[in-house]
Amino acid sequence: MIPVCEPLLDEKELAYVTDCLKTNWISSKGKYIEALEEDFARYCGCEYGIATTSGTTALHLALASIGIGPGDEVIVPAFTMAATVFAVIYTGAKPVLVDAEPDTWNIDPAKIEEKITGQTKVILPVHIYGHPCAMDAITKIAEKYNLWVVEDAAEAHGAEYKGKKAGGIGHVGCFSFYANKIITTGEGGMVVTNETKIAQKARLLKDLAFSPEKRFFHTHLGFNYRMTNIQAAIGLAQLEKINHLVAARRRNAHYYNSLLKDIPGITLPVEREKVKNVYWMYSILIEDEFGLSRDELMVKLKEKDIETRTFFYPMHQQPVFQEMGLLKDEKYPIAEALAQKGLYLPSGSGLKGEEIEKVCQTIKEIRSI
Ligand SMILES: Cc1ncc(COP(=O)(O)O)c(C=O)c1O
Repeated sequence: MIPVCEPLLDEKELAYVTDCLKTNWISSKGKYIEALEEDFARYCGCEYGIATTSGTTALHLALASIGIGPGDEVIVPAFTMAATVFAVIYTGAKPVLVDAEPDTWNIDPAKIEEKITGQTKVILPVHIYGHPCAMDAITKIAEKYNLWVVEDAAEAHGAEYKGKKAGGIGHVGCFSFYANKIITTGEGGMVVTNETKIAQKARLLKDLAFSPEKRFFHTHLGFNYRMTNIQAAIGLAQLEKINHLVAARRRNAHYYNSLLKDIPGITLPVEREKVKNVYWMYSILIEDEFGLSRDELMVKLKEKDIETRTFFYPMHQQPVFQEMGLLKDEKYPIAEALAQKGLYLPSGSGLKGEEIEKVCQTIKEIRSI
């Protein structure tokens, strides 16, 4: 089976984790946590990094640290992973959806302004599959209405918009380090920011809001979102090779593009000018002209031992939100079309050239049968 994604771990991760075990630094204090927070924040062009237990908790922590709560509205893309919207709902705020751009699949800035109300506090763009959002347009709207910008960069480590790293452009950036992400800690996440007050609040809240003056005295409702030193040890080893991991994702995507570009009915991922797409997942759309549906193609690829995944289902069509009386009867035609036509192919940074050739050759053969 050629898997959709596998992490690339080597002796470095093993050595750092062994160091944690041998020195007893296995919980959420230790030198690897500090190094990962500092080095990853620098990598994103930010002053502060706050490690968390996941991308989901990073998003929740970011919103809670800004002070988002009941009565507030947060603008999110209709086309994203549900964790983005879950995090908004955890705070008690209301998610307000905006449809996707047809080419980048990111939130469409041209459709944001019509969704802003007196309750709107945050725009939460998601850099879908590693392509950065149109951050100039989003920042301009946020400045006009005095809104926070919280980037969900869970899928976009190392992506760049006009020379700035994804996650380091808005007020706060949130990352996931789940095992399929460009760098991983197994499970984990990070909040990055240049806002001192947000960073201090995030640090307080993630550690059960223990008062710094009096232990076991709490002035805030905190969370336990602490990453362990063992996870951070893996993350630091990964961060030391992030340039290589990002370059591999991009090289693989370019190779896929060159082999798939002449097949009618396949829409390839784009890379807009002045941005760097990190192709977290190499994603394509299967159009009618292809002759088989997306789902038929996936079944046939599986028969040939090639693993794929469908795109996300749009947020307004998720039963969980409908049952909560949210997002009902809304329509987002681009997000709906993407959910029907999109799939991603094997995309790990360790994917070999011959595996990409096998995937593309198999797609060609399936189409011509
Ligand atoms: C866009 C997006 N946001 C948030 C998350 C949540 O990250 P985690 O799985 O680490 O909680 C993911 C995870 O894949 C994601 O793709």
